[in-house]
Amino acid sequence: MINGQVLVKVPASTANLGPGFDTLGMALSLYAWIEMEAVPGGDTVIELYGEGLEGIPTDKTNLTYKVAKLVFEEAGLEMPELRIAMYSEIPLTRGLGSSASAIVAALVAANALAGSPLGEDKLFQMASELEGHPDNVGASLFGGIVVSAWDGTRAEKVRIAPHENLEVLVAIPSFQLSTEKARHALPAKLDMKDAVYNVACSSLLVAALASGNLELIPFAMRDKLHQPYRAPLVPGMSEILEQATSRGALGIALSGAGPTLLALVDRSSDRKAELESFLLDTLRAYGIEAQTMWLAPALNGPELAIFDAGKTVTFMERIKGEVRA
Ligand code: HSE
Repeated sequence: MINGQVLVKVPASTANLGPGFDTLGMALSLYAWIEMEAVPGGDTVIELYGEGLEGIPTDKTNLTYKVAKLVFEEAGLEMPELRIAMYSEIPLTRGLGSSASAIVAALVAANALAGSPLGEDKLFQMASELEGHPDNVGASLFGGIVVSAWDGTRAEKVRIAPHENLEVLVAIPSFQLSTEKARHALPAKLDMKDAVYNVACSSLLVAALASGNLELIPFAMRDKLHQPYRAPLVPGMSEILEQATSRGALGIALSGAGPTLLALVDRSSDRKAELESFLLDTLRAYGIEAQTMWLAPALNGPELAIFDAGKTVTFMERIKGEVRA
C-alpha cells in the first residue's frame, strides 16, 4: 500500500459513434480528476469540487468508493478508510461517459494506492462489467478510438489512433437523459435488414477510421439500431442527424445514450461556425437550450501521479492549472 496520495486524470468519452452500439468509443479532451489516499485510524470522507456534482453521495454509497472497495477485494487486501476528492468537467447524464470516467479513475487510483496488484486488462474487465458494456470505459482507459467486444464474461479491444484531422463538436442539451431511460426506448427485436445495415456501417466506419479514410465517414456513420428509437427523447435530433453532413460535419451521431449530439469535423474545414449555428439553432427551434464545445480526441488514457505523504498542497491547487475555466 502506498503511503501518500494518488492523483488520476481521466478523459471523457463518446460511445457508439453512430452504428457501433456498445462497441465503439472515443476518448475526448474533457476530464475528471480523482485524488485518493488511505486515512488509517480516520473515517472515509468524499469531497466533491466544481459545479454539477450536486446530488452525488458523499458516503460509502459513492460510486468511486464502491469501485475502490472492489479493487481491494479483488487484490485480497484489507480495505482502508479513504479520503477521495473528485473534480469533473464532464457534464453528468449527458452521454459523455461521466460514470465510465469515474469508474476508470477510481479503479486506477485504488489500484495504484494498493501498490498496483491488478494489471490493465483486469481493470478493463472490471470496468466493462461495472458499466455493462465496454465502449465508454475502454475509451477512457486506453485513449483514442477503441473498438471493443464484450461477451458478458470477457472484453477484448483494439485501439485505433485517431486521424490527426479529426476534431469534435458536441452540442450538449441542458436537460439530463439517463442511460437507463434511453436503453428502455430500444426495441427487443430488430429487422434483419436493419441489423445487416448496422453491421455494414459499423464495419466500414472502423475500417475508415483505422485507414484514415475520412471521406467515408458521412456514409458509414449511420445507424438503424438505436438512434431512430432514441430520437423522440431528443427534440430536433432527427433533423440534425439528417442534415448535419450537408452543414459541415463529416459525421453526426447521438453521443452514447444522449442527449448530447456529436459531430466529427475535419479540422481544416471552413464551415465550423455554420455547423455550430445549425446545431444550436435547430435545437432551439425545438425548444432545447444547448451548449456547444469544440473538443479533440484524447490520445491517452489515465494520467497517474503519486505524491508522498505529508505534502500540504491541496487537491484543487494540484489541478487548477489544467481544468477548463
Ligand atoms: N452504448 C451505450 C448506449 C452507451 O448507447 O446505451 C451509454 O452508456
